[in-house]
Amino acid sequence: MNIGEKLHQDHERIKELTDQIKSGQKRSQEKLLGELSKLLDVHMKAEERIFYERLMDIHATKFYALEGYEEHNLAKRVLGELQKLSPREDTWAPKFKVFNELLEHHIKEEEGEFYEAAKEHLDEDELEEMGEQFENEKNRKIARKISRRKAA
Ligand SMILES: [Fe+2]
Ligand SMILES: [Fe+2]
Repeated sequence: MNIGEKLHQDHERIKELTDQIKSGQKRSQEKLLGELSKLLDVHMKAEERIFYERLMDIHATKFYALEGYEEHNLAKRVLGELQKLSPREDTWAPKFKVFNELLEHHIKEEEGEFYEAAKEHLDEDELEEMGEQFENEKNRKIARKISRRKAA
């Protein structure tokens, strides 16, 4: 799988989770949000390390990487605020809506203009190799999280 397909796979899982949270009971919303937060953390870090860093190297794609970092930061900030609230509070649902809109916008751009630009400048072999690196990077991050949890 190339990096575009790998990103898409994660994005589908992210959308699945946000849909479940939207339609879920307040009791399950917190737990699902925790799951989404872990997935996003690993996804964004691997994406920045493998995809954005490469886009930063190329004059024509650098802007997209910089835009991506900004959107990740914004999404993380709103997610952090959400996690401090309870779904029982009035501000939770509107804040979740904003968060979800941020994610949807970001995913659309990432799979759209970011990836289209990447495809223009990277050949299929490299995109394929980046897909593999992305997977390895994610597995490394997950393994590190587990060992940190065991040590605690
Ligand atoms: Fe992504
Ligand atoms: Fe992203």
